[in-house]
Amino acid sequence: MDPLPDPALVVLVGAAGSGKSTWATRHYAAPEIVSSDALRAVVGSGPADLDASSEAFALLDQIVSGRTRRGLTTVIDTLGLDRDRRLRYLARARETGLPAVAVVFAIEDRLCRQRNSARDRPVPAPVLTTQLKAARATLDLVAEEGWDRVVVVDQGVAEVTIATPASTRPEPAAPGAGPELILQLSRFPWGEDPQGWLTAIARRADEIGLAGIALMDHLIQIPQVGRAWDPIPEPWVTLGALAGLGTRLRLGTLVSPVTFRPAGVTAKAAATLDVLSGGRAFLGLGAGWWDREHAAFGLPFPPAGDRLDRLESTIETCRALWYSGTKAYVGERVSLPETTCYPRPAGALPIIVGGTGQRRTLQIAARRADGCNLPSADSERLDQLLSVLRRHCAEVGRDPATLSVTVLDLPVVGVDRADVARRVERLRGRTSAAAFAARHHAGTADTHRRRYADLADRGVSTVFLAPADLTGPDDLDRLAPLVPR
Ligand code: CTP
Ligand code: MG
Repeated sequence: MDPLPDPALVVLVGAAGSGKSTWATRHYAAPEIVSSDALRAVVGSGPADLDASSEAFALLDQIVSGRTRRGLTTVIDTLGLDRDRRLRYLARARETGLPAVAVVFAIEDRLCRQRNSARDRPVPAPVLTTQLKAARATLDLVAEEGWDRVVVVDQGVAEVTIATPASTRPEPAAPGAGPELILQLSRFPWGEDPQGWLTAIARRADEIGLAGIALMDHLIQIPQVGRAWDPIPEPWVTLGALAGLGTRLRLGTLVSPVTFRPAGVTAKAAATLDVLSGGRAFLGLGAGWWDREHAAFGLPFPPAGDRLDRLESTIETCRALWYSGTKAYVGERVSLPETTCYPRPAGALPIIVGGTGQRRTLQIAARRADGCNLPSADSERLDQLLSVLRRHCAEVGRDPATLSVTVLDLPVVGVDRADVARRVERLRGRTSAAAFAARHHAGTADTHRRRYADLADRGVSTVFLAPADLTGPDDLDRLAPLVPR
């Protein structure tokens, strides 16, 4: 069965003793379940205090309204047989954009009666008979009411799996499918031992089968990632340290702003890394965006148009200096009296352009780069950027298959659903849990594996993986199941 959507509004429907509460606690965390019985016990003398019903339902409605407004999974554990109520919950799901799931408990009457009579306060037999009849009739009604999913639980506890919004494909990814994964390091909580921390991360990344390590290139830690006084090392020096560890990891920046270094110096650094690492280097380039770090380090921060010109000329300079021979170079934007640059890169050194500027950045990628890096947070936006990129390729007469597409992905990966929820709550800052979970595709390894397989289907060759909660090598073990085998 396809996994149930998550977050979602889930409405349980079934006679007393049909197993609703048992099913709910089996599949959802306690705060996600809103139960009229439990609320009767809060405002009344106990779960069976029918005098407390109207207050219990008023509370229930308030809780449902609060949770759904925040986009949080809400499981409504009531009899669910009152059609008007049920349709109100369905309408609430529509209003808040949550998928609506009805779970109907259609167990045998005999079993239900048996369970009922075994309880402390059994429901009177005639009442149960009415409920059982109503439950049967409701099964047909529910099918017509427009729920996004109807689950029928016949005997006992139906085994369902609960997805996260990221799982667009129900079937598990075929083994071996999926893009290569490169770890993007953006935080460096290395304590007193920077080299030891980096070495341990790199060795573990290599062991679990990640294809490489990419470093951010910033002069001050960016606010999206950490605090300004958190360490953020110079990437080419750091990559040099990683190059000597004897791993198979590909190494590069994602991305180096072209405003930081003269183009030729970037070409030199990347070529040197390629040689020292035996041909494992890549060079990510972007136009730069953060004025503050430029000002702080005394670097000019020209207007966007100039920075994009510089992106083009940097790529041109790199290609000219990396090309064999030492002849003078006269190109489109760059002229050099000679191209004496030794060591040459060990092999073809890929240049990946990062950025989402649809008019120029993607055009520059289409014209000059080996790869183009796009954000993966929103899949509709990704599709749109991909189509713009293909259009630019068509305009410059480039086969889009020769331009690799990479994405930067910031997943929250938990070992199970509860662990995912805990991580989201810890990491979300002031962002709402639902929005944070959606942006970071919060889910278990399974969810991410399916999503990556889906990205591969759309033509993504590499995922740069930047988990929000990477503090040391042990955190990488959670990523191991994502690696295509
Ligand atoms: N039960 C069971 N096996 C299941 C499901 C339930 O033995 N697969 C038992 C439970 O342990 C409980 C009784 O059946 O003693 C009723 O289950 P419960 O989940 O409480 O049923 P509800 O539908 O929630 O009943 P009510 O409407 O009264 O809350
Ligand atoms: Mg119950």
